[in-house]
Amino acid sequence: MQIELRDIRKSFKVYKRPEGKWGLLRGALMRNVEVVEALSGISFGIAEGELVGYIGPNGAGKSTSVKIMSGILTPDGGECRIMGRVPWKERTAHVSRIGVVFGQRSQLWWDVPVEDSFDVLRDIYGIAPGDYRTRLAELTATLDVGALLRTPVRQLSLGQRMRCELVAALLHRPQILFLDEPTIGLDAVSKLALRSFLKEENRKHGVTMLLTTHDMDDIEALCERVMVIGHGQLLYDGQLAGLQTKYAPEVTLKVNTDAMIAAMYNDLALT
Ligand SMILES: Nc1ncnc2c1ncn2[C@@H]1O[C@H](COP(=O)(O)OP(=O)(O)OP(=O)(O)O)[C@@H](O)[C@H]1O
Ligand SMILES: [Mg+2]
Repeated sequence: MQIELRDIRKSFKVYKRPEGKWGLLRGALMRNVEVVEALSGISFGIAEGELVGYIGPNGAGKSTSVKIMSGILTPDGGECRIMGRVPWKERTAHVSRIGVVFGQRSQLWWDVPVEDSFDVLRDIYGIAPGDYRTRLAELTATLDVGALLRTPVRQLSLGQRMRCELVAALLHRPQILFLDEPTIGLDAVSKLALRSFLKEENRKHGVTMLLTTHDMDDIEALCERVMVIGHGQLLYDGQLAGLQTKYAPEVTLKVNTDAMIAAMYNDLALT
């Protein structure tokens, strides 16, 4: 398995202010510590080239898992090996082989043109100039960001920024891509474009992907296998079809709203 997690546990200490009108004062004097168990023993394996959906309600532990797998967080216990490496121990070697996109947070420098951020990434990853040019040209064309390269990130629309985030995450040709809500806030046209890009990247380059989303149309369009996490535990790991049989066998009719809206927006030429 390219990605292996065994019994991964992670809890956070949160400081709570006591209630009542003296809470602020008492909170300053003695802090109430509460422990939130974000992951209480997560195990799964992902093979090279798989495109797996990772779903679950708010606060379930999805982002925490992604942060552990990308070496940002150290778990309290359990084992994790990705391409043979322990992410938080061999961070530099690890991050050179993976890409991460957090839809909620930009990884690009806010005030500088997009291309300048890409240049910094080229230096960080030590990408050879020739290879960088080829790869940037390829990604710029497929994600249609050529016209945006000289624009500061803060001036980009959400959809434009997300396409640039993907370029940034893929410049160094990672073998694994972690996507934490990449479609959040995107309109239907942008969602469809992003989905077909991810599908193609997975098919053409065999990039392994773990996709977190609250949009089931994303999952349906991209993932055969889906993992469901709730209260820090893995509740389901299998085919998407099996999930429906298990939880909602009576639901059969499904209108593809995104496709419908996308057709409408395309008519309005809003892209
Ligand atoms: N840095 C932190 N400090 C304290 N608690 C945290 C921290 N990060 C996450 N948590 C807590 O851990 C739990 C899991 O959070 P996580 O962000 O992994 O959820 P999620 O599945 O990504 O949710 P969402 O769908 O809202 O993005 C939550 O209860 C959250 O409050
Ligand atoms: Mg999250």
